[in-house]
Amino acid sequence: SANASPSGQQPTATYDSAFLKACRREAVPHTPVWFMRQAGRSLPEYRKVREGVPMLESCMRPELVTEITLQPVRRHNVDAAIYFSDIVVPLKAIGLDLDIKPGVGPVVEQPIRTRADLARLRDLTPEDVPYVTEAIGQLTCELGATPLIGFAGAPFTLASYLVEGGPSRTYENAKAMMYGDPGLWADLLDRLADITAVFLKVQIEAGASAVQLFDSWAGALAPADYRHSVMPASAKVFEAVAGYGVPRIHFGVGTGELLKLMGEAGADVVGVDWRVPLDEAQRRVGPGRALQGNLDPTVLFTGKDTVEAKAREVLDAAEGLEGHVFNLGHGVLPTTDPDALTRLVEYVHTRTAR
Ligand code: CP3
Repeated sequence: SANASPSGQQPTATYDSAFLKACRREAVPHTPVWFMRQAGRSLPEYRKVREGVPMLESCMRPELVTEITLQPVRRHNVDAAIYFSDIVVPLKAIGLDLDIKPGVGPVVEQPIRTRADLARLRDLTPEDVPYVTEAIGQLTCELGATPLIGFAGAPFTLASYLVEGGPSRTYENAKAMMYGDPGLWADLLDRLADITAVFLKVQIEAGASAVQLFDSWAGALAPADYRHSVMPASAKVFEAVAGYGVPRIHFGVGTGELLKLMGEAGADVVGVDWRVPLDEAQRRVGPGRALQGNLDPTVLFTGKDTVEAKAREVLDAAEGLEGHVFNLGHGVLPTTDPDALTRLVEYVHTRTAR
């Protein structure tokens, strides 16, 4: 496969990249950098090609996906590309009536609330997402030695949209199901784990060099509830893709109390938001895993000197880590000045050059 380890096989173009080395906790020529939401509204060239094309439709057009995924790589010199898609694409692909509303997020016409509703969640097959295979095939050709990160939403974060019917601040319907009908909840998360596993496998088999599982909203959960009611489903996803040997990244927001469990779920790299310094995060995660993060995305709204001082704090806290991938603590905010991102990549590369 395109991602096989070099043991007895031909090393691939991406295998020796700084990004994959850092994920494997090997020595790196410089600290690799990429940004969550690096493709998207902060870029004028993105806004231009997206004009008049609804979000979910854009995810199903391979030419457009390829162009949008490459835009931040060309502009910022980041160490990895992230496949342009959305966490709800596999749910759309199995026929759920959902849409992404501009400025709002994913909205589901008929939320999943009962056992009867579960029947609408059929299995995902590779034939449901031919555009993913096609786009990733094009992308890995064009990217050459730059790795492509595939991704999916984790079962809890997907469930939060499906049960609420849209974005929520409290997740009251989803958490009420988790506490009040644990059997239904477990079955829902298990279905979502299977769908997510297939979605990641399709991306890896098409050539993705790493995968990130976004459990963006897991920070809403107490550790005991996460361990009991959510972690088994996320662990099932990680286990399903373990055999490919590609690094598995696990990210959430506000997950300071969950970092250890998020590693134990089966991640090689644990993503950290800006609330926990990386040295403390490594103590919580324990040995044997790399970390990714964790500059506060709002720092990019300050001047160059402040950005560099705050980036340096992140690098200093990462000094003793086994592996570090520099990133923001969450996605690039849409009004970010893209030049600030380009300068930040340059700063991290220069400052960490070995
Ligand atoms: O560059 C990248 O990171 C790849 C693209 C990407 C998108 N969504 C594109 C997108 C990724 C990795 C995602 C993941 C995603 N989608 C997450 C997890 C990451 C996170 O931020 O925690 C979540 C929670 C979603 C659900 C979702 N989709 C939200 C909350 C929104 C924002 C709604 C809005 O308009 O503010 C979306 C829409 C979305 N996904 C956009 C993009 C570029 C904006 C839509 C547009 O450009 O018209």
